[in-house]
Amino acid sequence: MQMNEKQLRILKLKKEMDAVVLAHYYVTGDVQEVADYVGDSFYLSRVASRVQAKTIVMCGVRFMAESAKILSPEKNVLLPAADADCPMAHMVTAGQVRRVRAQHEDLAVVCYVNSTAELKGESDVCVTSANAVQIVRALPNRQIYFIPDENLGRFIAAQVPEKQFLFHQGFCPTHAFLSAEDVKAARRAHPDALLLVHPECRPEVVELANYAGSTAGILRFARESRAKTFLIGTEHGVLYDLAKENPDKCFYPLHPKQICPNMKRITLEKVIRAMESGFPSVFLEEEEIQRARRPLQRMLELSK
Ligand code: 13P
Ligand code: SF4
Repeated sequence: MQMNEKQLRILKLKKEMDAVVLAHYYVTGDVQEVADYVGDSFYLSRVASRVQAKTIVMCGVRFMAESAKILSPEKNVLLPAADADCPMAHMVTAGQVRRVRAQHEDLAVVCYVNSTAELKGESDVCVTSANAVQIVRALPNRQIYFIPDENLGRFIAAQVPEKQFLFHQGFCPTHAFLSAEDVKAARRAHPDALLLVHPECRPEVVELANYAGSTAGILRFARESRAKTFLIGTEHGVLYDLAKENPDKCFYPLHPKQICPNMKRITLEKVIRAMESGFPSVFLEEEEIQRARRPLQRMLELSK
């Protein structure tokens, strides 16, 4: 694909300043094209823990940039839009987590990576939708307090019946508004399509899906499936990758409004500005980094 002027400027800046660009599937296609690594939140955190470059430019939301800083504190981590923040990351407080922990013995606090560094620091282990079931199953504790996303928590609980779960009422505004009615309407319009959804959708939507999993899981399923038509129940950015990887298949969004406004704050202009000015960069107190690193590293170890 022919790069435009802004994209070429970013490629030049990457070389000049020894930077790598990481992009989540939900950012726009033009930004994904300049990235060295494109993936789901688990993949991006693993890459961030291993890359050699001096600077990481995180094209995603704040919790992804914070995870990169926590796992690679010696690196300069740029988040091109300071206001690209996931609302779910703030839907539980450290005080609430401590209170629940004090009331239960043999409890593991399992924290979805879509959370602040402070919350990670209160937790026993982090997970993403790509590894949550595997990690929760492997924990020695019988009781699990899953924060902040209730829908993902219930998705995991359904697959790990041997454990008892406590949930928090966090949710993703981009996924949780979808209803079974939306699925029925989309199926009427595309009766042959398979439905692939993210587990941040409500249980009534997940139940109707042919596949539920992380964004990377959705891409894998579509790649390996013999079906030709799919309804996609996650953020629209993934449609760019699905179409690019599967030119012979058709992908329709389950709903026209599944757009994460925070992911869309990352633009080529902002990436250039951040790389030229070195701002906004992620700053976390040393103690916060130390506390949050343990559960993130445990996630990486348990996902091997
Ligand atoms: P993934 O872990 O699938 O990348 O999802 C991240 C996210 O923010 C989903 O809304
Ligand atoms: Fe957060 Fe939802 Fe956006 Fe993902 S799609 S970053 S969970 S608001």
